[in-house]
Amino acid sequence: MSADILDWTNAGLGDLDTAAYRARAAEMADRLKTEVGAGRLPFLGLGYWPKLDKDLGAMAGWLTGFEHMLLLGIGGSALGARALQKAFFPAQDQPGHNGPWLWIADNVDARSIEACMAKLPPEKTVVVVVSKSGGTIETVGQYFIVRNWLKARLGASWKDHALFVTDQKIGFLRREAASLGIRTLAVPDNLGGRYSVLSAVGLAPALFMGLDPARLVKGAAEVAGPLASAGLDAEALSGHPAFGLAIWAAALMDRGFDELIFFSYLPLWACFGDWFAQLWAESLGKQGKGSQPIPAVGVTDQHSVNQMFLDGRRNKACLFLTCPSLPAGPRFPEDLADEFAYVRGRDLGDLLQAEALGTRMALTTSGVPLVEVRLDRDGQEAAGKLMALLGAATILTGWLMDINPLDQPAVELGKRLAKARMGAAGLEREKADLEAFLSAQRQEQGF
Ligand code: PA5
Repeated sequence: MSADILDWTNAGLGDLDTAAYRARAAEMADRLKTEVGAGRLPFLGLGYWPKLDKDLGAMAGWLTGFEHMLLLGIGGSALGARALQKAFFPAQDQPGHNGPWLWIADNVDARSIEACMAKLPPEKTVVVVVSKSGGTIETVGQYFIVRNWLKARLGASWKDHALFVTDQKIGFLRREAASLGIRTLAVPDNLGGRYSVLSAVGLAPALFMGLDPARLVKGAAEVAGPLASAGLDAEALSGHPAFGLAIWAAALMDRGFDELIFFSYLPLWACFGDWFAQLWAESLGKQGKGSQPIPAVGVTDQHSVNQMFLDGRRNKACLFLTCPSLPAGPRFPEDLADEFAYVRGRDLGDLLQAEALGTRMALTTSGVPLVEVRLDRDGQEAAGKLMALLGAATILTGWLMDINPLDQPAVELGKRLAKARMGAAGLEREKADLEAFLSAQRQEQGF
């Protein structure tokens, strides 16, 4: 048995109707084989890795020669890199760090981007623009501004301070790279943002931070390999943890569990919760269906949202991430007041594990169906495994829900309206709709 465990003891499977979903194993296995075979699920097949490994190797000296990386991207083009950064590169958030530094700009916030341009030394900075489509306005908009800053400060050599991670053939960034001679790394076809962390999207920043992309991919391959195997059949899929999670999640939704907590008791892995939230929400929030992901981090959120988890609406399930082998850390002194006698001589890590157990049991006692995802080690392979497991579980959950987990059509409306508001050509319907929206009788109140 793998040393990384899904513990189903408190998942509430006995109260869920899973039979109909379990019976779809053969259909799901066939579908996986078809989709992987057609190259439509590259994050499982990982067929792009050998070339990417070479491309990253060729670029490593140049990339790691910079002190600062300013990553411009949004959604799936930023969240995976941030999760890896916070988990494996915590030094940047701690006193005394002396580089390198990764800065992720995933918003259109004037103050933040101005601060980057005012404080970062351009001669020691590489700007990495990450966009699969190559045309996301929040990302390329930041690029237009940062490009001018680089040009103004570095002259013609600015192009040696830029890297685009984008589609291999199409999109504005691809054209811009070709016309300006800017370095690129390709995002493979059919690899949408939220499934792309283990492509150049997350691995270029990972390499910059000193991580080993091969270890992350190796972990992912352990989980994804069996799902991408030509020999996959109903039996093999039925025993795969990703399918187990998908069945559990789909059956929970049928029973009205429409919120899914991702509770990380690896404090440094808190941003995996944000990464997972985007993966789950954008993939499964379709046609009035889905469950709302709620990222939470132990122990911090025990003193925040946990009251709602425990005694609010009984609509929550939980993925509970633990790692019993986390460092023990500093020891509590012996000379503590009697009211704290129970921690005398114990380690800080003991307290974390005790609180994880306490919260896990409290959630279970409160009727929150919970699967513990227990990692043997909090290393890079484990991160790759976890990301592949959750990606695969998301795809399979979407298929069991009979929705498409790979698109995100609903978010297009807001984008079109914003473009219309900015005066983009065409979009007459959106412009008229905006007029109507803005001319509604206001019901406003000062505060
Ligand atoms: O997961 C997704 O597909 C999205 O969240 C995208 O990552 C996000 O919209 C950014 O897209 P792009 O990488 O094309 O700029």
